[in-house]
Amino acid sequence: MKRTKVKSLLNEKATGQEICVKGWVRTRRGSKHVSFIALNDGSTINNIQVVAEGDHFEEGLIKRITTGSAISVIGILVESKGGGQNVEVLAAAIEILGDADADEYPLQPKKHSLEFLREKAHLRFRTNTFSAVFRIRHALTFAVHKFFNDKGFSNIHTPIITGVDAEGAGEMFQVINFDLENIPTQNGKIDYTQDFFGSKTNLTVSGQLEAELGALALGQVYTFGPTFRSENSNTSRHLSEFWMIEPEVAFADLEENMDLAEEFLKYCIQYCITNCVDDLKFLDDRLANEEKNLKKEARSDMGLLERLQFVIENDFERLTYREAIDILRNSKPNKKKKFNYIIEGFGSDLQSEHERYLVERKFKKPVIITDYPKGIKAFYMKQNEDGETVRAMDILFPLIGEIVGGSQREEKLEKLSERMEAMDVCKEELWWYLETRKFGTCTHSGFGLGFERLIMFVTGMKNIRDVIPFPRTPQNAQF
Ligand code: 4AD
Ligand code: MG
Repeated sequence: MKRTKVKSLLNEKATGQEICVKGWVRTRRGSKHVSFIALNDGSTINNIQVVAEGDHFEEGLIKRITTGSAISVIGILVESKGGGQNVEVLAAAIEILGDADADEYPLQPKKHSLEFLREKAHLRFRTNTFSAVFRIRHALTFAVHKFFNDKGFSNIHTPIITGVDAEGAGEMFQVINFDLENIPTQNGKIDYTQDFFGSKTNLTVSGQLEAELGALALGQVYTFGPTFRSENSNTSRHLSEFWMIEPEVAFADLEENMDLAEEFLKYCIQYCITNCVDDLKFLDDRLANEEKNLKKEARSDMGLLERLQFVIENDFERLTYREAIDILRNSKPNKKKKFNYIIEGFGSDLQSEHERYLVERKFKKPVIITDYPKGIKAFYMKQNEDGETVRAMDILFPLIGEIVGGSQREEKLEKLSERMEAMDVCKEELWWYLETRKFGTCTHSGFGLGFERLIMFVTGMKNIRDVIPFPRTPQNAQF
């Protein structure tokens, strides 16, 4: 008999039809005479209740229906007598597909800490929290593609192995195929011409430079791929391997770039509100419960759903870096030296404490900061006429900090060359990038959205390790 998914069963009317359902047991309770089994198959956060009457089944079989075991049930869909669900399955036959020995199975029907579950990443999909998070991750992936597809963008796959350091921050994982015991050298230096690709290569930190090439022909493109950074920051917002969405648009300036980013973020959030109702409600409750134990000051001022709605309904605050610095310099925490990094003036990089002050205390909504000093931004950003700032924009989100980084690109060959020389970016290696400024150059802009940071915001999860199935962080690449 073909199985019906739990999600469809829960939406069906109990007309006494015979059905087959398969899934993993969340809990079994009851007595000798009757067992109630909560069964989940991942199609929804909700379980279906299976009722197994004692006389029908051997005691030995019932005992094997433990948390985590996989079972197949054939039975009748009936109206539920208990509260909490409309329908339940009155079991006629139960087959154990896979046992889960209760003495050994790590997930018991009690609350496990997120830290514990990180060590059990191979099983954590089976918890309510993680199944909700990963269904939402999927919904967001779909929303990203739908948004750009509907606007006529082309998705391009930029390389994962590259010779480029697009951000110029030197945070790259090298890709080498040499026998490490016997690395060829020439004049005391490693001879990369003898390596697999014949040149020095690394895992990409961003698909932007290649996306620009696409945009300057296809008009509007986006990448959505894994990116790798070897920065040694062990924070709750950094991964060594994360996914980034990078749209790039020809003939668009910084203003249009910001408009696109704001519309895009709101679209993705709205998509989840519309399509992930049960999962979001569960996570909303989860967060509220978690925060119950916190001191009042440490609690968020809004519930999860309320915060998502709020972001959709309000314009993001837009201000320049200079304006942000003025606000920060005159802020209470700066004057009272409460910030770890005191803001002195123009040129200071914004730390996450400053970003959070602006977003969570000053404006209480997402903030877009533009026109940063050129010294703290990448070489490819368009220079302003003041000679000091570039047409950059960062979008800062409540509880997350920077979620998007982008800019209008320097389209003038001379200015770009100058900047590359000043910042020690190798022009020979990027000859192809420079040629786009030589042949048919034009205004263009783009940005990068950190996919996991968006998922953190939508799910309310506080650690980035809990929104990617198998996180890669310093000292950790298990699974
Ligand atoms: O600001 P970033 O470094 O910008 C770029 O890579 C540009 N090439 C984007 C572009 O204009 N096309 O990174 C973009 C975003 C950040 O705002 C952040 O959300 C995320 O990527 N991000 C990380 N997410 C998780 N772990 C890390 N280590 C991250 N580093 C950046
Ligand atoms: Mg950035």
